[in-house]
Amino acid sequence: MQVTASAPGKLVLYGDHAVVHGQPGIATALNHRYQVQASRLDRAVLQIRAPGSVEREISLARLGANPRPATAFVEAAVGQLLARNAPAGGIRIVSDGPAQSFGLGSSSAITVATLAATARLLDVRLNRARLYDLARAAVLEVQGAGSGLDVAAAVHGGCVYLERSGARPERLSTPDLPLVIAWSGRKAGTTNLVRQVSDLRARHPDLVGPVLGLAGRICIRARACLEEGRWSDLGELTDIHQGLLDSLGVNTASLSRLIMAARNAGALGAKLSGAGGGDCIFALTEDSVRAKVVAALRAAGGDVLDIESNAPGVCIHGET
Ligand code: MEV
Repeated sequence: MQVTASAPGKLVLYGDHAVVHGQPGIATALNHRYQVQASRLDRAVLQIRAPGSVEREISLARLGANPRPATAFVEAAVGQLLARNAPAGGIRIVSDGPAQSFGLGSSSAITVATLAATARLLDVRLNRARLYDLARAAVLEVQGAGSGLDVAAAVHGGCVYLERSGARPERLSTPDLPLVIAWSGRKAGTTNLVRQVSDLRARHPDLVGPVLGLAGRICIRARACLEEGRWSDLGELTDIHQGLLDSLGVNTASLSRLIMAARNAGALGAKLSGAGGGDCIFALTEDSVRAKVVAALRAAGGDVLDIESNAPGVCIHGET
């Protein structure tokens, strides 16, 4: 038997960094999906095939002992499941996805899709809450830090609200978001940037604490704007949020160029998304000026991505 599952990537909308420090965060799932096929093997091994001709075989008894970076999330995901549900024989996982990840949550999507496909293969029932817990534990095992917001988007889809890291994510009911997403051309390293902000907070707790608190308050207001489709109010909040991220030191010249280009072309608001240091920005853009914003982003060196938000969460596509 072979089971195929897919899970979406994500775009952090609000609460970037703040959500790691006890504040709320909001993300939307993206139609930028990662697929995993799981099948059984006779021998007690985990075999993994990943894009880029990556092949790995590990004895199930040694799972977790010495993970490789290219397959660490699959190894951790299978390890989380097998810690409670040891199969007779082994498992083969084949993962696939878009050629470029753009920093849009590929690790969490692969982790969630691996867990969903493997659980179905082994006939282990996982509801979304349990899937979230296992996937979050797997991501923390590999990264050592993270709010769980990206895992929440991969599991639930749509727009998700996390009251704080460790809380149960809520799926919001929102209209389609008028977003334009652009890649800055530079990959960012989330773990280092999360550490950088934590260090800044440790050096200036009286300043950085309130900045993170303001980002949290923006999330609470942004949630209402998203649910009610109040885009021009949300645009103002988006720009204020960008100022806070700039003050945390995670903005870059190329992100700034894209953000200013989008705003000057008539976007309602624009900010970087995620850890900063590169990767993507998004602009909230009414249809009437969308073409102008897209052209301005391209002229400023951005790669405008044809990716839809509010995408469905993890799903099983087939069993053969
Ligand atoms: C990264 O996509 C978003 C951060 O807030 C980290 C996290 O939430 O785990 C910077």
